[in-house]
Amino acid sequence: MTITVTGATGQLGRLVIEELLSQGVSAARIAAVARNPQKASSLGVAVREADYFQPETLKKAFAGTQKLLFISSGDTNERQQQHRNVVDAAAAAGVSQIIYTGILNAETTTIALAADHQATEGFIRDSGLPHVFLRNSWYLENYTSNLASALEHGVILGSAGEGRVAAAARSDLAAAAVAVLTSQDLTSRAYELGGDTPFTLAELAAEVARQTGKPVSYQDLPEAEYAAALKGFGLPEQYAHILADADSGIARGELTTASGDLSRLIGRPTTTLAAALSAVL
Ligand SMILES: NC(=O)c1ccc[n+]([C@@H]2O[C@H](COP(=O)([O-])OP(=O)(O)OC[C@H]3O[C@@H](n4cnc5c(N)ncnc54)[C@H](OP(=O)(O)O)[C@@H]3O)[C@@H](O)[C@H]2O)c1
Repeated sequence: MTITVTGATGQLGRLVIEELLSQGVSAARIAAVARNPQKASSLGVAVREADYFQPETLKKAFAGTQKLLFISSGDTNERQQQHRNVVDAAAAAGVSQIIYTGILNAETTTIALAADHQATEGFIRDSGLPHVFLRNSWYLENYTSNLASALEHGVILGSAGEGRVAAAARSDLAAAAVAVLTSQDLTSRAYELGGDTPFTLAELAAEVARQTGKPVSYQDLPEAEYAAALKGFGLPEQYAHILADADSGIARGELTTASGDLSRLIGRPTTTLAAALSAVL
């Protein structure tokens, strides 16, 4: 049985391959799909070259696959077409199950970024393939990897109000993917994957301040002002708007969950904000 992982050169994909190997899955049973095979050469498993924009390469890459982990594209340009290509190729290759990394609360969320994931879940349902939707929350790393400016200015900006975000460590989300990839169960279902203890951005700022001993507070801005601030920091305009829109989604409670699915799947409590911060600070 072959487990095939797309996006294997990305941050999540790498963790999935490492976790599969560390759980004793034989390297011979794992295939890593990469558009740049050189980038995948250190993964320690067979590499199959394919690009989401090139349907023929995908069909070849998925041959003989039982479980396909389809990691959503990091390139948001024409992403729905990219994803349709992946699903069509998976159906043509006859994979036994497609496991897709989407977005938390995909059925109800209204954040702009969710549209591609909602469309992709539709393509997968329409394909008739057995499927699992791993509806991933925001990564904890979105909040912990860029703290230099917050520490310098003593402020974390956002437009999430008092909304909570069930952010989860990539490593926990990778472990959840591995739990599904190594299960014999082919029942179609969705998991709502978030951290056990959702937090507000004010609580994030307070934890950063506590661990560093420096004054850091959260400053809430109207969505348009936050987008303008992000643009001012050098983010492309469209990306700045998407991030500010997502913060408004957090304010509406759309990026939080009390499902408990993540800790149940990985068999341990999820990584806490405090632990993730202390690992990087
Ligand atoms: N939950 C969150 O907070 C969050 C945040 C950011 C993104 N995401 C989504 O979750 C996914 C996984 O996260 P991540 O941290 O692993 O992202 P990442 O490190 O940016 O990895 C993205 C992966 O997509 C691949 N890719 C991009 N365009 C492709 C194409 N045309 N054909 C084949 N592969 C292509 C990249 O290949 P290369 O290595 O060749 O570039 C890379 O392997 C992202 O792609 C994005 O859809 C989620």
